[in-house]
Amino acid sequence: MIVGVLNQKGGVGKTTLSVNIAASFSRLGGRVLLIDADPQGSSLDWAAARQVEPLVSVVGLPRASIHKEIEQIGRGYDHIVIDGPPRVTDLARSAIMASDVVLIPVQPSPYDIWAADEVVKLISEARVYKESLKAAFVVNRKIANTAIGRDVGEALASYELPTFDAQIVQRVVFAEAAAQGLAVHEIDEASAATAEIEAVRNELMEMTR
Ligand SMILES: Nc1ncnc2c1ncn2[C@@H]1O[C@H](COP(=O)(O)OP(=O)(O)OP(=O)(O)O)[C@@H](O)[C@H]1O
Ligand SMILES: [Mg+2]
Repeated sequence: MIVGVLNQKGGVGKTTLSVNIAASFSRLGGRVLLIDADPQGSSLDWAAARQVEPLVSVVGLPRASIHKEIEQIGRGYDHIVIDGPPRVTDLARSAIMASDVVLIPVQPSPYDIWAADEVVKLISEARVYKESLKAAFVVNRKIANTAIGRDVGEALASYELPTFDAQIVQRVVFAEAAAQGLAVHEIDEASAATAEIEAVRNELMEMTR
């Protein structure tokens, strides 16, 4: 499966989800490739911070030709995750065209919900060429037991794309793991963060079944 994690809005959790979902796929066995399509190179930084054996292969490909190159670059991999760039529309468009599923992280804030219309538009455009393209929102940095946390699902329902049942809560361990180039399950396999990532991975797999 090729999962593109995209949203032109900055700082919504594209890299955090990309590295953890890629690592989570590797737990199923099989080979996983993480493509860093962001010129900032955050997934590459994550890989560079790592002191232990890699779980996934990481390559930088911040080019608007990902959709053309993916077949060759992704050969031999069971799962591919693309960490998308903020802002740069031509890169995002190419990453969307390369994907089987686009996962759109959104934070529970009205600004994020309004800003999502940009990526939703890109997905509608891509579907003209690629009818089979799937896409869904996932709430990231949910703050437990707050009204805004509950309302976000309702607000996202105004878009035609579905929202995952699984949500990722705001947790310090996501930043702590990132600093060491680790996935949250490597910090604590039994943690709530690990379970949240696995739930997102499972919904992705159900979507492409
Ligand atoms: N669920 C979470 N809990 C706590 N911190 C988080 C969570 N998700 C993301 N963060 C933090 O928020 C910041 C932005 O996240 P991240 O870099 O993943 O976003 P991004 O969408 O990739 O940003 P950019 O648009 O710059 O590429 C980081 O410092 C990250 O550690
Ligand atoms: Mg990023």
